[in-house]
Amino acid sequence: MPTLRVDAEDPEREPIARAAAIILRGGLVAFPTETVYGLGANALDDAAVARLYAAKGRPHYNPLIAHVADARGARTLVERWPDTADRLAAAFWPGPLTLVLPKSPRVPERVSAGLATIAVRVPAHPVALALLQAAAVPIVAPSANPSTAVSPTRAEHVEKALGQRVDLILDGGATAVGIESTVVDLSGERPMLLRPGALSTDELEPYVGELELPGPVTGAAARLSPGMMERHYAPRAEVRLFHSSETAEAMSRARRKAEAGGTVGALLRTEAAAAVDSEPLQHVVRMPTDAAGYARDLYAVLHRLDALGCDLILVEAVPSAPPWAGIRDRLRRASESARG
Ligand code: TXA
Ligand code: MG
Repeated sequence: MPTLRVDAEDPEREPIARAAAIILRGGLVAFPTETVYGLGANALDDAAVARLYAAKGRPHYNPLIAHVADARGARTLVERWPDTADRLAAAFWPGPLTLVLPKSPRVPERVSAGLATIAVRVPAHPVALALLQAAAVPIVAPSANPSTAVSPTRAEHVEKALGQRVDLILDGGATAVGIESTVVDLSGERPMLLRPGALSTDELEPYVGELELPGPVTGAAARLSPGMMERHYAPRAEVRLFHSSETAEAMSRARRKAEAGGTVGALLRTEAAAAVDSEPLQHVVRMPTDAAGYARDLYAVLHRLDALGCDLILVEAVPSAPPWAGIRDRLRRASESARG
């Protein structure tokens, strides 16, 4: 599994050509997008898509996002392109927005896990766009991590978790956004938010009106967007969320863990939490106080604390304002409250 460094701003031709050739012969290439690293395969090659599911250990019922170079490419994969899709694409593509639309029969069933819809996105990353242009096929790319684990925001994260199962990794450095795209379903009567993410409902609603929000999703409904399955985005360590008012209890939990020989890390956000006696914490990370900065750092911090051998990671809860919704969702799913 070679890793090739590429200039994230102005990718060199040679590594991109090599990556495109691998995609066109049915191989798997990990590449950076603005959100997280994706593991790419030719969306029109059923055998390649099957290899992709196998490499990730992804359940066969969890559909993939087809990445395309522009809205024109997206339209070739769908049966219907409503006005709302036009408005959202014009406003946010290339960017961290995924649209779910009725699927064209041209796309192999496996891509959409048998659903009648397909998810499409134009990523805002020069390396991803160069690869899409060079390969000239749509590329399905789930986050390049084993199913349910923390998504990769650096090439090293991909190497460590999936290295041997990938034909090539394009290393374009750390990703800028840090959490996954927002998924909006435009296939029904009313636009629905299937996965909160990098773009907040505040940013999207001026273009589509009110977005129907997902309730707690379980059972059959979870299969409509399996990214909403409860436990997901989870590090090896046990993750516990606490509100600043619960800091004392959280530190008692940390002390018990440390006394039992465990290693404890913490992601703190407020001065109040940072001010308490943090003696039982071996690894304290002061997180950025703005949502964009927090999202950018979150997965790399979780990967690092896992690598440092943390058994318990305490995470101070984040605000409930719309820009934090994607982060809140990922933290909840990574935490014990989602362990089914
Ligand atoms: O930012 C991102 O979206 C990253 C980068 C690599 O583009 N990709 C990503 O892919 O997060 P993945 O496979 O980890 O998550 C795709 C999400 C899942 O929640 C999946 O269930 C949902 O999109 N999805 C895909 N196709 C769908 C469909 N037809 N209907 C409903 N949800 C769909
Ligand atoms: Mg994922």
